[in-house]
Amino acid sequence: MRSILLNPGPVSLSEGVRRAVTQVDLCHREPEFFKLQDKVIRDLLDIYQCDPEQWAAVLIGGSGTSALEAMMASLLPRETSLLVLENGVYGERLSRIAGIHGIRHQALEAGWGAAIDLDALAVLLASGSYTHVAAVHHETTTGRLNPVDDIASLCTQHGVQLLLDTVSSFGAESIPFEQPSLQAIAATANKCLHGIPGLAMVLCRRDALKLDIEPRTLSLHLQGWAEQQARQSTPFTPAVNAVLGLAQALKELHKQGGWKARRSRYRHLAAQVAETCQDLGVEQWLPAAESSCALRSYHLPAGLGYDDLHDGLKQQGFIIYAGQGELATKLFRISTMGEIGDYDMARLVQALQMVISGSKRNDYA
Ligand SMILES: Cc1ncc(COP(=O)(O)O)c(C=O)c1O
Repeated sequence: MRSILLNPGPVSLSEGVRRAVTQVDLCHREPEFFKLQDKVIRDLLDIYQCDPEQWAAVLIGGSGTSALEAMMASLLPRETSLLVLENGVYGERLSRIAGIHGIRHQALEAGWGAAIDLDALAVLLASGSYTHVAAVHHETTTGRLNPVDDIASLCTQHGVQLLLDTVSSFGAESIPFEQPSLQAIAATANKCLHGIPGLAMVLCRRDALKLDIEPRTLSLHLQGWAEQQARQSTPFTPAVNAVLGLAQALKELHKQGGWKARRSRYRHLAAQVAETCQDLGVEQWLPAAESSCALRSYHLPAGLGYDDLHDGLKQQGFIIYAGQGELATKLFRISTMGEIGDYDMARLVQALQMVISGSKRNDYA
């Protein structure tokens, strides 16, 4: 039986993407590959109608973290004073990346899953102590969607530049590219875009790429990748098959109506999971209005540990995801990214009913 992946990436692939990945053997120094690379770059910019005169899309070999590290290590000048907004694992990771690359930074911390305090952010930005803010859009730790519109407009108001981790939101949530403060976002092929792992990307303002910043890294040097990709080349061996997969995935995204249609689809699927859980007495960790379209967290049902829930659902062909750190014993996560059809969803509803209500019967026995 084919397993449906309900973890937040890698996602279940469409047949088209699965075929595209192995459709042809390509040498990465031949014109056929560079044509494909150009097309993927154009299509990435097209998702949010980013003006190619102002914005560059840069493909990076690696995972989402590679794109984050490339973005931060390459675009933050030595004199940067960075404020990192933390409310989960991935906000904390931004701080770790800053620390590793010697970037002066401080954090505005909220608890995991808590909302970012926008009033406190406004006060900190008004103090004039920061040149840049780094934030996570969809904090996948809990499914919280951070208010990047508000964050970007506060940054614009105070002349501070913004870098965003949109690893689990790019392609399915609204991103404020029109805000002058927004300098760059980092994303990956294998989440809302429905490609395969191994390929990540940074979309950044062309002006940001022109800054004279001493490289802190070789293989994640954004300017190096950007410069060579702009002249139909590549600095290192790229993730050729992942680029083939992403080209097809982007074609499918466009055909399905773009990021807004994908958001609607994800929301529809997430609501069905939430309703089923609610009927079974399983509460959501966060209100739907504060959650991303792509993933929601749920309290573990009384009397059912994560491993039993996971294994019961796995037997039915569904892979769910555990909470991280201290949340491991408290919540579970269900992502509705990827190729998930109505039939899969109907089966998931049945599987949840069987595993959760079965456990309740055992609990009462
Ligand atoms: C918001 C966010 N940022 C960063 C990452 C790290 O991505 P990767 O595991 O591909 O390096 C993830 C992974 O789930 C994520 O959800």
